[in-house]
Amino acid sequence: MNYPVWDVPFLGAGMVVAIIAIIHVLISHFAIGGGALLFVAELWSDRQPDGERIREWLHKYATFFLVYTTVFGAMTGVGIWFSIQLASPEGTSLLIHQFVFAWAIEWVLFLVELTLLYLYYYGWRKNSRRLQVALAGLYFVIAWGSLFVINGILTFMLTPGGWTIENRDMAAGFFNPGYLPSLLIRTLVMFLVAGLGGLLVAARLEEEGGLKERIVVFCSRWVLPAALLLPGLSYWYWKTLPSNTARLMAAGATGLGGGRLEVMTLFAVAAGVAGTLLVLGSLLYQVRPRALGVAGAMALFVVAQIGFLGGEFARELARKPYVIYDTLYSNSLWKHKAAEAGYRQQPYLSLTRWDPDVVPLTPQHGEWAFRLQCASCHTRSGYRGIIPRTESWTPLSGFKWLETMDQQGVPPPFVGTAEDRAAISSYIQSLHGKNVGAAEILAEAQADGRRRSDGGETREVMP
Ligand code: HEC
Repeated sequence: MNYPVWDVPFLGAGMVVAIIAIIHVLISHFAIGGGALLFVAELWSDRQPDGERIREWLHKYATFFLVYTTVFGAMTGVGIWFSIQLASPEGTSLLIHQFVFAWAIEWVLFLVELTLLYLYYYGWRKNSRRLQVALAGLYFVIAWGSLFVINGILTFMLTPGGWTIENRDMAAGFFNPGYLPSLLIRTLVMFLVAGLGGLLVAARLEEEGGLKERIVVFCSRWVLPAALLLPGLSYWYWKTLPSNTARLMAAGATGLGGGRLEVMTLFAVAAGVAGTLLVLGSLLYQVRPRALGVAGAMALFVVAQIGFLGGEFARELARKPYVIYDTLYSNSLWKHKAAEAGYRQQPYLSLTRWDPDVVPLTPQHGEWAFRLQCASCHTRSGYRGIIPRTESWTPLSGFKWLETMDQQGVPPPFVGTAEDRAAISSYIQSLHGKNVGAAEILAEAQADGRRRSDGGETREVMP
């Protein structure tokens, strides 16, 4: 809550991050798994009588790989940094400071990775066979190293483990409970995407002497390890989730979630269905490799993207309302600070570094308090829209709801004074087209409070 707020209409800032991230995640997994495929296919081609022709396909694969992973990967990768620091400056700052060495290692690995890829690709005709194989192998090792590093930071956000805001134990946060299952899942998924990319390129090959068939079978094999092991690994990962989250997901799965967060379960199911389709598709092409066409290969790629969407969204939603689980709320409010009544009851805008300097109880007061305190999770009428969620609010009921909003289970505690609550309640009324001033709401609340305490006293004297 310290910085100017990025108020994205309809989608909300978090959704912008999510959209960029989902595209990036598929690319980044491809960037690693594809390296393994290049390496193994290099070795494989050496053992085949028509190895030269296999390498022609491999060169096409490498071209697709290079353009897709470096151009789109770099664009979306930078896009993630750009959007997260706007959506959650506080969270981004924590991740940078906490893992500064991990980031440094990560960026060195990226640089080496890209260098190796360019040496491999542009040395295609010049380099010796041994050098090409070595470059591909080394590329994969370095690229996987970058997963090893980033995986610690990503899983930390959902399962910080033994790390706390007091001990700031980097090793405990990095090698957190979710680290290992997530590393294994991502490694298998990388191979899967690499195989799908291979199919996409192979689909356009001319049918000649069984070459296309062998390549299709080779590629579709890369999908299977993930297919066999993902259900078990996902269960393991699920077991590492905070119990609260796991409970919400299970409730969604059985329909007990009351229609709230079950959307998270929906995404998890989407990931499962996508996985099943991928297995069936690749099995089909293994048995009947000739059946593979561009449309089929594209379809598998799209299904994989939907699977990523499901898996990553479920993971993101599992973290709500936190950016760093149990530590930092999505609206940049620290949990340990919010726990102190003395902190919680200060005038809200005075706590923000970006003080919009508004006159108390004016419409601007309510709008700014909403933007800074609510808009990181709620849009007006789009994603998790505030308008549909407050249909039944009266100025007074909204004022009261805010005081105890964290008792709803998911939303964070409210920070601010009665004036802040009146201002937000008035702002929300204005979103419904009703004009009720904050000062009016405050007066009504005070009158209501007096009535209640009078009522209480009367009851006490009654026998
Ligand atoms: C950190 C994220 C986050 C912040 C910040 C946040 N909320 Fe929410 N809020 C949620 C989630 C998650 C839910 C429950 C799921 C849903 O309704 O989509 C929710 C639910 C609600 C609901 C519906 C409650 C119900 O009983 O149906 C209202 C109203 C609401 N929030 C208002 C606000 C207001 C006003 C603010 C700012 C003072 C705010 N929220 C700040 C995450 C947040």
